[in-house]
Amino acid sequence: MTNLNSLPPGHSLVETADGSFTLFSEFFQEACHSTNGAYDETVLHYVEGTKILDKIHLYDPLVILEVGFGLGIGFLTTLKKLPLQRKWHFISMELDKALLEWFKNEYQNHEFLKELEWIDEHTLQARNEWITLTILQGDARNRLPQYLMNNPIKWHSIYQDAFSPKKNPTLWTKEWFELLKNYSHPDVTLSTYSASTAIRKSLHESGWGVQKGEKFGPKRTSTRAVLQKETDPDILLQMERSPALSLRDAKEI
Ligand SMILES: C[S@@+](CC[C@H](N)C(=O)[O-])C[C@H]1O[C@@H](n2cnc3c(N)ncnc32)[C@H](O)[C@@H]1O
Repeated sequence: MTNLNSLPPGHSLVETADGSFTLFSEFFQEACHSTNGAYDETVLHYVEGTKILDKIHLYDPLVILEVGFGLGIGFLTTLKKLPLQRKWHFISMELDKALLEWFKNEYQNHEFLKELEWIDEHTLQARNEWITLTILQGDARNRLPQYLMNNPIKWHSIYQDAFSPKKNPTLWTKEWFELLKNYSHPDVTLSTYSASTAIRKSLHESGWGVQKGEKFGPKRTSTRAVLQKETDPDILLQMERSPALSLRDAKEI
């Protein structure tokens, strides 16, 4: 993960505190991970945060949805952590086609990722007997509903890893979280690094039970969301006291 041979267009390399690297996007003006550790953050918020090490023994296949493929650290970390000979399907979404072309090229000698191929203009896929990786290229707000029309699927874990709500607001709205909820297994866990009151309100108003997540680096908390529990009373109180509004899709006039 740290020996990158080249850089995707419009990105620069950033070393993070645990020695792993992330990318800074010139377009979004934001890094893909916390500078306190891209790998450690991924383990804490996504591998541990969505409980995939437990769920892999409960579901066959385990279905993981990732919002924002980036440089693939979410997938590579999952591949490293999940046991062999269990079935799982990792569905991710990425706007930037050049970033995906770069990733495919960068990992062309990787045991599993060398199988990556475009199965249509906007879908990159690799599979073996146990693992399927499907990356939906395009704006997730259109591309995911389009994919779901032909692939009815329920996910067990969601890595909500878009850029920040300020930079990437359409992937944090009440309507977005409603869509994610509608295709979730009842035992789903959604996890994200963000602890913003606005995104917690978006989650709560779309019917998720919002819970506190672990702290990472200087951030005091993060967010987990489930369907089998109500929103944490401390978070309810905090939301009531805050003037922040939930994020909503812009209405077309
Ligand atoms: C924080 S990075 C994801 C990091 C990634 N999970 C990893 O571990 O490497 C967010 C990614 O979301 C992508 N993105 C932003 N807006 C998007 C959209 N509307 N649809 C799909 N992908 C989007 C960005 O291009 C960026 O690569």
